[in-house]
Amino acid sequence: MEVTYQLDEISSLAELFVSTYATQKLFCLEGEMGAGKTTFIKQLCDKWGVVDNVSSPTYSVINKYLCSDNRYIYHLDLFRLKNSQELIDIGFEDILYENSIILIEWPQLAYPLLDDISYVKIFIEKTSENSRKMITFIC
Ligand SMILES: Nc1ncnc2c1ncn2[C@@H]1O[C@H](COP(=O)(O)OP(=O)(O)O)[C@@H](O)[C@H]1O
Ligand SMILES: [Mg+2]
Repeated sequence: MEVTYQLDEISSLAELFVSTYATQKLFCLEGEMGAGKTTFIKQLCDKWGVVDNVSSPTYSVINKYLCSDNRYIYHLDLFRLKNSQELIDIGFEDILYENSIILIEWPQLAYPLLDDISYVKIFIEKTSENSRKMITFIC
């Protein structure tokens, strides 16, 4: 999908997104610092019924939340990682094969590990101070 949205539309956008990609489990979010990746992830987690606090795992690399349907959501931020091996070391390949949702900010280092795996790529771009453009597609 391709949409330009403001903050007051983000909840309905997240609802549409969750229903559009209901069968997908892995989501890679690209966009510059301040584009709105974490903000959108918070909205998605809200739709999936997360009651835990959702915040960017900039230092921890990975956060884990519980959904209302008892699945887990792994929220990763790979900004500080140096190579794909570091991602393997934190157990990324194991969580890939769980029945969990995975959301990745700064996903470049994950792509080499996703050869046979379907995922949704999400590009967010700052179009003005109070609007963002999102482009999404299945890879
Ligand atoms: N659609 C939007 N319209 C206006 N501001 C937005 C929108 N989405 C996010 N923002 C704002 O952009 C800022 C940075 O968002 P954040 O999600 O932290 O970015 P990122 O995780 O990509 O670095 C926040 O102040 C947030 O409120
Ligand atoms: Mg962020």
